Amino acid sequence: MSWKDFPKVELHLHLEGAAPPAFVRGLAQEKGINLDRVFDERGNYAFRDFTHFLQVYEAATQVLKTPEDYRRLTLAVLEQCAENGVIYAETFLSPDFCGGRDVIAWKEYLHAMKEAAQQAEAQMGITLRGIVTCIRHFGPDKARETAICAAETAGGWITGFGMGGDEGLGRQGDFAWAFDCAREAGLRLTTHAGEFGGPESIRQAVQDLKVERIGHGVRAIEDPALVDILAETGVVLEVCPGSNVALGLYPSYGAHPIARLREAGVKVTVSTDDPPFFNTTMTREYEELERAFRWGIEDFTALNAIAIDAAFCDEGTRTGIKEKLEQAA
Ligand code: ADE
Ligand code: ZN
Repeated sequence: MSWKDFPKVELHLHLEGAAPPAFVRGLAQEKGINLDRVFDERGNYAFRDFTHFLQVYEAATQVLKTPEDYRRLTLAVLEQCAENGVIYAETFLSPDFCGGRDVIAWKEYLHAMKEAAQQAEAQMGITLRGIVTCIRHFGPDKARETAICAAETAGGWITGFGMGGDEGLGRQGDFAWAFDCAREAGLRLTTHAGEFGGPESIRQAVQDLKVERIGHGVRAIEDPALVDILAETGVVLEVCPGSNVALGLYPSYGAHPIARLREAGVKVTVSTDDPPFFNTTMTREYEELERAFRWGIEDFTALNAIAIDAAFCDEGTRTGIKEKLEQAA
């Protein structure tokens, strides 16, 4: 069967990373910005490895200069998500790229993104919530400023705080002030860990930042005691198999640890991370997981149930999405 119309919940999606290449090229042309080093000759995002991926990602964000650009970006991304059956998504938003962490500018960008999300909900039936995200390789001081942006706009549409970027730099605990600030503002917490950092990075995230979800977290598989801890405590992993395969963490979907983590009782969910960068969509993720592990409707229904339970939205929104999932089952 095709998984395209199967209703899906996606928890781990970077807004800039989901920008369709044609959209970025269009903006670059409008603004006279040269993006030769961002795309290959076929027009796809081009990168050699994780570090280069982060550089290309940041280069592509140069075309996104105003709240209006982010309004258009949000609509373009949600169109892609809705086409792939996503009915609820959470997206990482970066005040670093939206006004340079200035709270007043950030509020203007946020207003534009929320308007776009409301329009998409009315027109395409997809619900979006935002997770304000600091960028690890920009360092703890900038993360504090990002957390203040998050705290100033917490509640309602902004439901969480997170961290992406280069896991190789610093320790999770260096960012504790930012995460404490966000928690005190009522935000729910997630951080990238156990992607390019090993199991120790996941232990640090749980102990030092007290997050309830982990972005990726797949390298827990290298530490059986940690797998047990994750299973017992119910920490939810936002697993992005296609991203991990594209960035060379695992040679294939079949070699990916998502099925082993799930069998060990860890709460896993499925997302795309930065779909056009990794030549994926939620439909493709489902197709590849079906092929690799023979997962079917029961498996994907169970994964969606875990994802909506772990979503950072309010209870009313959660109930509405659960009803939509159940109607489709
Ligand atoms: N930012 C965007 N995608 C990312 C990833 N896969 N890991 C860390 N930071 C990111
Ligand atoms: Zn990510």
